[in-house]
Amino acid sequence: MRVLITGSSGQIGTNLALRLQADGHEVFGVDKRQNSWTDDFRYLLQDLAGHYAPFPGGINGVEYEEVDVVVHLAAHAKVHQLVRQPHRALENVMMTFNVLEYARQQRVPIVFSSSREVYGDVHRFEEYGEQVADFAYTESTYSASKISGEAFVYSYARCYGLPYLVFRFSNVYGRYDNDLHRMVRVLPLFTHAISRGEPITVYGGREKTLDFTYIDDCVDGIVRGVEALVEGRVVNQTINLAYGQGNTLVYAAERIAAELGTEPQMAIAPSLLGEVTHYVADLSKARALLGYDPQISLDEGIARSVAWFREHRAAHPEDDVAVAADHEGTTQSAELGWKSLAPS
Ligand SMILES: NC(=O)c1ccc[n+]([C@@H]2O[C@H](COP(=O)([O-])OP(=O)(O)OC[C@H]3O[C@@H](n4cnc5c(N)ncnc54)[C@H](O)[C@@H]3O)[C@@H](O)[C@H]2O)c1
Repeated sequence: MRVLITGSSGQIGTNLALRLQADGHEVFGVDKRQNSWTDDFRYLLQDLAGHYAPFPGGINGVEYEEVDVVVHLAAHAKVHQLVRQPHRALENVMMTFNVLEYARQQRVPIVFSSSREVYGDVHRFEEYGEQVADFAYTESTYSASKISGEAFVYSYARCYGLPYLVFRFSNVYGRYDNDLHRMVRVLPLFTHAISRGEPITVYGGREKTLDFTYIDDCVDGIVRGVEALVEGRVVNQTINLAYGQGNTLVYAAERIAAELGTEPQMAIAPSLLGEVTHYVADLSKARALLGYDPQISLDEGIARSVAWFREHRAAHPEDDVAVAADHEGTTQSAELGWKSLAPS
């Protein structure tokens, strides 16, 4: 297959591109940033978020190579950052629109990277099957960008017959995720801070429970999906991809500290605005349609991630500096201080 991956310099994009190439497929990436992890696949530097005139062979006048399928991963992917900077949520929608237009004109199927954030944080279910998403519970501007993206994908399927798969990911971690100066992700941040003997803060309380997905499991699910979509075996489906088990963030921090041979200094704080505090995926659909069978438990995944972190840090000692938390700003809606909502 010839696969176009948008967001190919990111964590999932880089891992996916390398895996597809290793499997003998041709990969062509697009990202607005250079890839800081590898030079092993070809990509184009382009900002996908503009309002561009229609252009059949590519995006914004740039002609792309012919491909068989598009995997659209490019996005601003940090929930709370999009609460503080909502224009980035709109950019996510623009990127999806531009990539959908390309796919429509080229008549190639698309895989869209959605998120468990579309389910909201209303604690209604033990496990989340794909059918329970209810968009009355749009938790954050990031969720809104993913819900809008999904809606555009579904509308292109109805109006133009565009074949798609939508994957809803959940807390993907491991290899190529510790570029903390660009994007603070929780497990790499904890690993970085604990390795430096610095305290960490768990936002969302001791009970905050998430479905952490090791990168190789996530990529394996995407590859199964891409193959099934191109062969026409599985088309127009929305599928959870995760590990299928909940673990508290506190437990994840303790496992990281144990792998680093130390004790974490942990503070507990209220949830950041817009963030989900309980999610466990129902994976029945991924198992049934794609034969997806995630292999890496959180304990094993953290052991691998910390080993990778140590190796990467040894090669990049310059990264061993304090990282500014990207949580400044609002943490609670009450702190936003809307005049009309102020208590009289
Ligand atoms: N990693 C997770 O836990 C997770 C969970 C749910 C959903 N997702 C979604 O999966 C996708 C990939 O996530 P990731 O973890 O690899 O994120 P990432 O931030 O590592 O990668 C996203 C890439 O998109 C690129 N990008 C952003 N704006 C762009 C623009 N205007 N033009 C071109 N490229 C642009 C970024 O430079 C980045 O390399 C995202 O859509 C994200 O929202 C990820």
